[in-house]
Amino acid sequence: MRRERRRRLALLGLLGLTLLLLSRTRLGRIVPLRMFIHRTGLQAENSQFLLEDKPITILGGSMHYFRVPVAHWRDRMRKMKACGLNTLTTYVPWNLHEPRRGKFDFSGILDLGVFLEVAAEVGLWVILRPGPYICSEWDLGGLPSWLLRDKNMQLRTTYRGFTEATEAYFDELIPKVIWHQYSKGGPIIAVQVENEYGSYAKDANYMEFIKTALVSRGIEELLLTSDNKDGLSAGTIEGVLATINFQKIEPVLFSYLDSIQSNKPVLVMEYWTGWFDHWGGDHHVFDVDQMISTVSDVLIKGASINLYMFHGGTNFGFMSGALHFHEYRSDVTSYDYDAPLTEAGDYTSKYYKLRDLLSKYHVDPLPPVPPLIPKATYGAVELKRCLSLWDVLASTGEPIRSEEPINMENLPVNDGNGQSYGYTLYEAVIYGGGKFHTRGNVRDRAQVFVSTQSVGSVDYKNQELDIPEVPGYRKLQILVENCGRVNYGNKLDTQRKGLVGDVFLRDVPLRNFKIYSLDMNQTFINGLNSQHWSDLSEGKWGPTFYQGALRVNSQPQDTFLRMKGWKKGVVFLNGKNLGRYWDIGPQETLYVPGSWLWPGVNEITIFEEYKAGESLYTVDSSFLGRTQYVD
Ligand SMILES: *[C@@H]1O[C@H](CO)[C@@H](O)[C@H](O)[C@H]1NC(C)=O
Repeated sequence: MRRERRRRLALLGLLGLTLLLLSRTRLGRIVPLRMFIHRTGLQAENSQFLLEDKPITILGGSMHYFRVPVAHWRDRMRKMKACGLNTLTTYVPWNLHEPRRGKFDFSGILDLGVFLEVAAEVGLWVILRPGPYICSEWDLGGLPSWLLRDKNMQLRTTYRGFTEATEAYFDELIPKVIWHQYSKGGPIIAVQVENEYGSYAKDANYMEFIKTALVSRGIEELLLTSDNKDGLSAGTIEGVLATINFQKIEPVLFSYLDSIQSNKPVLVMEYWTGWFDHWGGDHHVFDVDQMISTVSDVLIKGASINLYMFHGGTNFGFMSGALHFHEYRSDVTSYDYDAPLTEAGDYTSKYYKLRDLLSKYHVDPLPPVPPLIPKATYGAVELKRCLSLWDVLASTGEPIRSEEPINMENLPVNDGNGQSYGYTLYEAVIYGGGKFHTRGNVRDRAQVFVSTQSVGSVDYKNQELDIPEVPGYRKLQILVENCGRVNYGNKLDTQRKGLVGDVFLRDVPLRNFKIYSLDMNQTFINGLNSQHWSDLSEGKWGPTFYQGALRVNSQPQDTFLRMKGWKKGVVFLNGKNLGRYWDIGPQETLYVPGSWLWPGVNEITIFEEYKAGESLYTVDSSFLGRTQYVD
């Protein structure tokens, strides 16, 4: 008997040791016991969703981990739960997770595993939307720009260059999520196959390829597709639940969905609670009562719903996307979206009215609404010094030399991955002056200089300018900004940036360029500290870095930078890119997460393209610009 017990104890010990080792290695922080769990996940066999054989209604909300500071993930999720939601929906951005081919990043704000665990702890199910294309007003719809180094690339098709890259990415991503599936004891109840493919539909085999890529790597939960009404018929695939996206409910929508797949539960995958903004436009708002009445209509029909967005957050860095239909329009830094929670996670009337409505769909009272996250003002940023871009170029090492222009993605930088974001400066020697013409080859806009003196700007609309006639040789400098790659529509394959072809002086193409790649990453910004800065009395014009100190107390809180008087550029906090500003609006403040501030002195670096403002100060609320109702 005793020996038997000892043997059992030894076995248990061995098992424990195995689990401990597992938990420290491949499975990371995941509860190793999930290896022994098997639950029945979400089913969609008839008109009602079943989870573990019990009927459920999905009350979902979208929130993207990569748009929200890690320190606030739990707060936002608790606010979701307190609003009556039971499900969180997130995209996965390939371009952030694989910034260089084969170099992966799942750390910090990209730690999807931790994000999923927090969701599980808060008590939310998760619908995962791993793409690889995600749209989402995100640069190139989440696809890495290095894919475009191949001049024959056909994104979102079974073109080999695309499928191989997708498989290599899924080889990294999918093993990180399989242990978070519902059947394994995790929160993921469904996984979306691609995103709105019906509106693109360039390759009839592509959706099957993505589906197989997911399933063959261990995705077991219910699969979904997600399309707007126009894309619905072309976006569905066999054995995958079709869901629908809209803002205004049309009576025909549900019967149309039923004509495509009958006797299935209805899920409105993206119910658009607001809308995004582009530079030069207004801040979009969507009427709260219209939103509530539509959500109510959907629920009365017995359908499930996911609010896109429930909490939009911020397009930190250079990550905002663009649209290009009749006109190119790039998206702003804020992704507030006029959602139920603001960009900084505060409550709105949408939140409270939604909570009232959703409380009727719960037997138990909803959890209390979490307290507000305090906001602070820290007064003015003490601006101290400046550094002209021209001085930086003189010391950034050798530029790339090329007879013809090279687009950003194909520049020989970043270990063969090209330049993804930011600015590129193209310099050529000219003789005399005359008409300078871009023939549409500047993506997306550029300031043009002769011997560092600005002679004007060019973009999609303004493609020519006059170079003053001066006899002799001078340097022509073209500072091109990538304003964001298109994230929706059929122009994805043509989203190369910088100079994408010849530019002309007096109808002769310029030749023999010096090219400076200025992606302004954290290493670059921190490296500026070793340069010779001037004091501000010199009052510089033109593209210049400015630096100042933002002093905060021992418990930094969220705040906003008011960019009043500044014209156009980018702001960095301790080297981290907070996003762009532009005086054409609508957005006038930049969100500064308290968790990104250090107690004491913080370094603010601004890259201003034209002329600095008089001052820069912090405020305790955002101003996203004049508003316009979405129609
Ligand atoms: C950051 O940019 C510099 C060029 O300024 C480049 O040498 C470096 O490789 C970049 N780092 C990363 C992580 O991309």
